[in-house]
Amino acid sequence: MPALEISEDILAQYADIVYKNSGIIFKDSNAAVLISRISSKMKEKNSDVKTYLEQLKTDKNELLSFIDFVTTNFTSFFRNQRHFELLDESILPGLINSKYSRQLKIWSAGCSTGEETYSIAITVKEFFEKNHIDLASWDIKIMGSDISLESLFIAKEAKYPDRSVQKIPPAYIQKYFTPLEDGKYYIVKDEIKKMVKFDFHNLMYGSGIDAIDITFCRNVLIYFDEDIQKKVLTQIYNSTNDNGFLFIGHSESLVGLFDKFKPTSFEKGIIYVKQ
Ligand SMILES: C[S@@+](CC[C@H](N)C(=O)[O-])C[C@H]1O[C@@H](n2cnc3c(N)ncnc32)[C@H](O)[C@@H]1O
Repeated sequence: MPALEISEDILAQYADIVYKNSGIIFKDSNAAVLISRISSKMKEKNSDVKTYLEQLKTDKNELLSFIDFVTTNFTSFFRNQRHFELLDESILPGLINSKYSRQLKIWSAGCSTGEETYSIAITVKEFFEKNHIDLASWDIKIMGSDISLESLFIAKEAKYPDRSVQKIPPAYIQKYFTPLEDGKYYIVKDEIKKMVKFDFHNLMYGSGIDAIDITFCRNVLIYFDEDIQKKVLTQIYNSTNDNGFLFIGHSESLVGLFDKFKPTSFEKGIIYVKQ
């Protein structure tokens, strides 16, 4: 396969468009990722780098689709299992006890194809069940948002290949998934599906959602530089209730970056609490 011919100047213009519209930064070591995505796009569109660049500058839909194309959407059910144990054992008990309003809002920000959002819903459902609390008497909103429309389509469909469900505890698979096509795929059952809602949202801008109790924004900040990280964290902060919680990814930290969420230790790990 011939290597893509792209000048430094054109590559920088692609990186700039992606950065300005999504916050995702491609430079130095990960410039190769951008080159490879541009190369695939050129084949798909049968275009050349200059013509397509001009198209991106004027065609909003194409821009959205290109940004979708460069996002990294890796995710899995119960990714970093300890976070879900922490949610179940250390966060939900106090929160549910203190909520006279019986309203609970959880946001999976940068939810990709929905596995994180459904894992949250299953954890909440299980918590209510084992504590004999009537789920129907609560107003529970679990929202998943992403900038990738293709990922959101999969999230809404809630149909996953069998390899995706392999790490889910077998009891949950049986309880919350229906096998399709001889077990090649699994679809999330309606009782969990109806607990969640998915929407397009660019984290660089206000979410329009407020009074969030818990946000999961895991493995998203790593794609941004410090300026955008602060911008995104400010948006999350503004949407979060006082003393609300923020989960970030294993390899991410807010220390020295954003001190309005305080790192707080629990038995199963550290999460951030709004001050
Ligand atoms: C690696 S996935 C993380 C998925 C999930 N949170 C997890 O930890 O498994 C990162 C997601 O962030 C999304 N993303 C990147 N930039 C974004 C932005 N500006 N606004 C919203 N979502 C964004 C990507 O589309 C991608 O689906």
